[in-house]
Amino acid sequence: MSQSLINKYNVSGPRYTSYPTVPYWNSETFSLAQWKDSLKRSFRESNSTEGLSLYIHLPFCESLCTFCGCHKRITKRHEVESPYINAVLKEWSLYLQLLEGKPKIKELHLGGGTPTFFSPEHLNLLISGLLNTSDLAEDYEFSFEGHPNNTTEAHLQTLYDLGFRRVSYGVQDYNINIQKAINRVQPFENVKRATDLARKIGYTSVGHDIIFGLPFQTEADVIETINKTEALMPDRIAFYSYAHVPWIKGNGQRGFSDTDLPTPESKRQQYETGKKHFEKAGYVEIGMDHFALKSDSLYKAMINKNLHRNFMGYTASKTQAMIGLGVSSISDSWYGFAQNVKSNETYYSLLEDNIIPVVKGHILNNEDLTLRKHILNLMCNFETSWIDDALNFEELPDVLIKLKEFESDGLLQFELKQVTVTEKGKPFIRNICMAFDLLLQRKKPETQLFSMTI
Ligand SMILES: C[S@@+](CC[C@H](N)C(=O)[O-])C[C@H]1O[C@@H](n2cnc3c(N)ncnc32)[C@H](O)[C@@H]1O
Ligand code: SF4
Repeated sequence: MSQSLINKYNVSGPRYTSYPTVPYWNSETFSLAQWKDSLKRSFRESNSTEGLSLYIHLPFCESLCTFCGCHKRITKRHEVESPYINAVLKEWSLYLQLLEGKPKIKELHLGGGTPTFFSPEHLNLLISGLLNTSDLAEDYEFSFEGHPNNTTEAHLQTLYDLGFRRVSYGVQDYNINIQKAINRVQPFENVKRATDLARKIGYTSVGHDIIFGLPFQTEADVIETINKTEALMPDRIAFYSYAHVPWIKGNGQRGFSDTDLPTPESKRQQYETGKKHFEKAGYVEIGMDHFALKSDSLYKAMINKNLHRNFMGYTASKTQAMIGLGVSSISDSWYGFAQNVKSNETYYSLLEDNIIPVVKGHILNNEDLTLRKHILNLMCNFETSWIDDALNFEELPDVLIKLKEFESDGLLQFELKQVTVTEKGKPFIRNICMAFDLLLQRKKPETQLFSMTI
């Protein structure tokens, strides 16, 4: 990738796990009543056909990794498990009272924080509580995020018996100095043990999360991590660009300074090198940040153009409605988004008062819905067409100028109301989506809200 393209396009920009992006939600006009109505509508339209997705946020971790941008709460006190599980089940019961009919679960994902902070017994209580009150879609997919240092055979077996077939492990990088800098010492043997155990039990998709652009990380470190990863051949690899967002309250990105981070050029080189290695080993790049073996459902979804992107990243099982349970979780009815409160204490107290613990959200208007569709098409399929839309981007001078510029830089082909991103353009997909993000264009952020695109 040329230096001039990096200089030109390395700007602060969204990762588009949603459109509109969270800072652009219209939370002042949003109400819980609107959210409930939009979810009820979505449920009526889609539950009996495709079913719904559940995301459950389990926020506790025993120690703080200083690169981590996720919502977490650090504690070694495992007494927190039981009240938290009870609160999530209470939240679910409030949704059950709201929805007209029995939910049919298509996708269930446990994220965090660290789901494996919880004992297998508590996870069993949680999942059984959710499943006892629901039906299952025929081709349901259950997955969880496991920490290689604390995922036990009992965790894996318990969740397998409940229907889980997919696990992703946080690996990040194997170099001990980087691990120390990010306060996450995790030997290869731990990842191998957790990966082998999952396979032995019968998990059909094991994923590893690797990050490039970490403090002190070099291209040689990325290669070494990839060599070790290839020794275990996970079915999926999330190859994340390190998102440096130290301004987000409480995320704990510290212990290193900005000058310890690789330059944008070396970070981009780490990605290019990683991609080359993964492709040589038989992985195919899926959307942005992901690689999968051809036997994995993510690859099949990409080929069949069924790939979907939501707050968890890419998924092979698209549903119109997703309910997020737990602190900070985001729910999506397609017509609206709602985010839960982040503080455990507020979460518990709202639930005690029988209130769904939503703190903010956004109801999409017709323009939002159209733009959401295009941004999703671009993020999942690297192409989109507005031939059938009322909104003609060629009549919007700001969008047109940008599309022409991407075209002249060789990043996309643009003709007859449609764009197709070229191979050269794929690393700039966030920038290309930004051209379609009319809310961002109308109101440029005054401070940095998003990580850098490269
Ligand atoms: C929330 S963690 C959950 C897994 C589990 N807690 C663990 O650490 O193994 C999910 C993944 O998000 C990714 N992640 C977290 N913070 C990130 C950041 N600042 N930039 C890029 N990826 C990040 C990491 O790859 C991590 O494995
Ligand atoms: S990376 Fe995982 S274990 Fe580390 S702080 Fe973040 S959520 Fe917790």
